[in-house]
Amino acid sequence: MAGRIPQHFIDELIARTDIVEVIGQRVPLKKKGREYAACCPFHSEKTPSFYVSPAKQFYHCFGCGAHGTAIGFLMEYDNLEFVEAVEELARMAGVEVPREQASDRGGAARSAPEHDLQPLRDLMQAAASFYQEQLRHSPQAVEYLRQRGLSGEIARDYGLGHAPDDWDALLQHLQAPEEQLVQAGLAIRNERGRVYDRFRNRIMFPIRNRRGQVIGFGGRVLGDGEPKYLNSPETPLFHKGRELYGLYEARQFNRRLDRLLVVEGYMDVIALAQHGIRNAVATLGTATTPEHLQVLFRTVSQLVFCFDGDRAGREAAWKALAVTLPFMQDGFEVGFLFLPEGEDPDSLVRAEGQAAFERRLDQATGISEYLIAELTRRHNVHTQAGRTHLATDAMALIGPMPRGLLRTALVEEVARLTHLRPEQLEGGQGTRIAAVDRRQQLRITPVRLALHALLHEPALADDDMPTDWLHTLDRPGIDLLLELIETIRREPHISPAVLLERYRGTEAGRHLQRIAAWQPPGFEGAAVARMYQDAMDTLRRQHEEQRLEALLHKADTEGLSEAEKRELRGLLERR
Ligand code: UTP
Ligand code: MN
Repeated sequence: MAGRIPQHFIDELIARTDIVEVIGQRVPLKKKGREYAACCPFHSEKTPSFYVSPAKQFYHCFGCGAHGTAIGFLMEYDNLEFVEAVEELARMAGVEVPREQASDRGGAARSAPEHDLQPLRDLMQAAASFYQEQLRHSPQAVEYLRQRGLSGEIARDYGLGHAPDDWDALLQHLQAPEEQLVQAGLAIRNERGRVYDRFRNRIMFPIRNRRGQVIGFGGRVLGDGEPKYLNSPETPLFHKGRELYGLYEARQFNRRLDRLLVVEGYMDVIALAQHGIRNAVATLGTATTPEHLQVLFRTVSQLVFCFDGDRAGREAAWKALAVTLPFMQDGFEVGFLFLPEGEDPDSLVRAEGQAAFERRLDQATGISEYLIAELTRRHNVHTQAGRTHLATDAMALIGPMPRGLLRTALVEEVARLTHLRPEQLEGGQGTRIAAVDRRQQLRITPVRLALHALLHEPALADDDMPTDWLHTLDRPGIDLLLELIETIRREPHISPAVLLERYRGTEAGRHLQRIAAWQPPGFEGAAVARMYQDAMDTLRRQHEEQRLEALLHKADTEGLSEAEKRELRGLLERR
């Protein structure tokens, strides 16, 4: 496995990358003064509040607080790991990503994101091609798919394949190191150390990421047998809780995607596609996660969840509701479709066809109606105890929602049902910040203002103001501020993006990211140069206060040296 990517390479890559080009390839940007603007790709909006700054090499959304560098953008928008984002920028720049020798940093064991994932990706692609090829040689598998109503065209679009009924067909074909095959989840090593194919005599469903790369597989037995589906394990490429089966294909088939359908199974996605409904995705045998929601709402603003009409389906729907509510900004629409008992989308669309199924989708229960109906089904609003429980349950779900009309309407409805006032319901809630709203409500302090200013305009620190006094000022964050100032003085031309990327993956980096994205209230449109000056002046005054107090205290207790006496006189005079 390759080693770590050297920091100087990342510095140079950021310095030569144009964030406007990177984002412009994915989001239509319009020039607006010295910056570029667009409707934010990370939340739904009608007027642009997403800005890309060529000078700072940052993007920033004034609506939802999304903020970052070109690397950050690729990680968020393309759902990439850090190393993948670096690789993508390197590809655009036409350069190779160098790796440090393991010995450079002492020790070979590094965390997965720092490893080079390309060999695993190549292996997965080769396996997918092999399974697809094998399908042509298996009349039995072809017959199974035909009997489930699938055409060759759909099998091709979804890259369906067949794993031969053999212990080592894939192993023999790929001829790759056993260790790699095991790491890719394609092979299993048993207790006796023997390595064999994980998938044998199964219909193979390749799972693709946003960029169409195969990152995992689901494998179904032909007919009856246990387990019905075998899935790739978690690997460096494949994280179940984040991936959605069929999303890549849905984006391929639809030039414009407005709505996505969330179903349970591989076969549901494929049968719906077979019947012309090409916008279904499936979670991979897991419940819907916040990561799923993030990916879904980044792609569309309308979702319909399909659930079985049985008890398990209702439970799953209630869980999905709780995960979805924190993402419900105004403008998002979510419906819940409950299928007749014993049916799944596959059986239903085959039985009644595209038009009837689409009518059901249009009639799905809206998220508010579903929430209120379910609350009143679970609690008796005719008793005081029932109303109290309802209020508690309801606010646990509504509390994390972002502010907006939908939230207000729901609180009012719950107030009406429970004979309480909205303020009483909101009372216990505190001020929660919604998951999708990343605008940081930081308290304003001079250290934060100074950091914020430097992160936006590093050159501000390139003056000859003495900084020795900063060393003795006792304020949270001072060390970081000093470090930033010293870095900038060493490298006066460092860009904001390079500066921020140096700290990626550290506690300080998370803090700086928050401060860079922060919009200090009351400072909208203020010149950062002025902000920096004022903040440093305040800090210096604070330092003088601290010194003054310390010296007066020392004069009272142990007495002052001559130098300290001079300092004290100076401080008192300046007051
Ligand atoms: P279903 O049993 O509803 O599967 O499981 P399905 O897609 O409708 O398949 P058919 O129609 O019987 O062929 C829903 C999903 O749960 C996961 C799979 O992702 C499946 O698509 N699952 C199910 C497993 O991972 N393993 C299993 O053994 C069963
Ligand atoms: Mn099914």
